[in-house]
Amino acid sequence: MKVVFLGAPGAGKGTQAALVSKRYNIPHISTGDIFRQNINNKTPIGIVAKSYIDKGQLVPDEVTIELVKGRILQDDCKNGYLLDGFPRDVAQAEAFLSFDKIDAVIDIVIPFDKLMRRLTGRRVCASCRESFHVDFIGSLQVCPKCGGTLTQRADDRPDTVAKRLDVYTEQTAPVSRFYEEHGLLHRINGDQAIEKVFDEIVKVLG
Ligand code: AP5
Ligand code: MG
Ligand code: ZN
Repeated sequence: MKVVFLGAPGAGKGTQAALVSKRYNIPHISTGDIFRQNINNKTPIGIVAKSYIDKGQLVPDEVTIELVKGRILQDDCKNGYLLDGFPRDVAQAEAFLSFDKIDAVIDIVIPFDKLMRRLTGRRVCASCRESFHVDFIGSLQVCPKCGGTLTQRADDRPDTVAKRLDVYTEQTAPVSRFYEEHGLLHRINGDQAIEKVFDEIVKVLG
């Protein structure tokens, strides 16, 4: 099964992708996570990506498309994959059509006014990469799952979040319409409990 997750920053793509990846035993490929790993390791891709991510802008298409093209050719993608964060503009969606065929697109939809709080309250485990929210974990500083250190993403500052939401509206929202026209889009209400959102996604994927 080859699935794409769409949704605004903070909609819950990463949270749901982790669950779906486990359920269907397919790799969870997050372009944002790949860029952040490259930034940590100070690779050439990381150096380019950082200058865009810090401003809340998209990393240039040519960098991102090549990265995904290479990643889905790896052995672990033989039985499918889950893409979280790609494609993120119509140019990426069109390029993607030319090198692979997907089964479904899940668009996680949530009212815009909830996103700022979800993002500024997010804490991410430096070890297992799982996301948590201060509304649930309070001031806890270690990961409830693995004991790793909880960190805050550099692009979760309010001013950068605002920019990311603008970029989503201008560049990524049209990708939903693109897949709707291709008959692949499934909209899921992301404004409910994590388990409920997951149940709805599983209903769609079967
Ligand atoms: P990326 O890492 O993809 O970030 P994003 O799209 O902004 O999305 P987030 O990861 O912030 O949100 P999410 O939907 O995964 O939410 P989460 O599950 O964590 O991209 C980062 C940057 O990389 C981009 O800005 C861009 O620069 C670059 N980039 C990446 N891909 C690119 C591409 N293809 N092309 C060009 N550039 C690219 O949840 C958020 C919070 O809410 C958490 O605290 C979580 O615990 C909580 N939460 C989740 N679900 C629920 C729920 N149901 N109820 C209550 N709380 C919930
Ligand atoms: Mg994410
Ligand atoms: Zn952890």
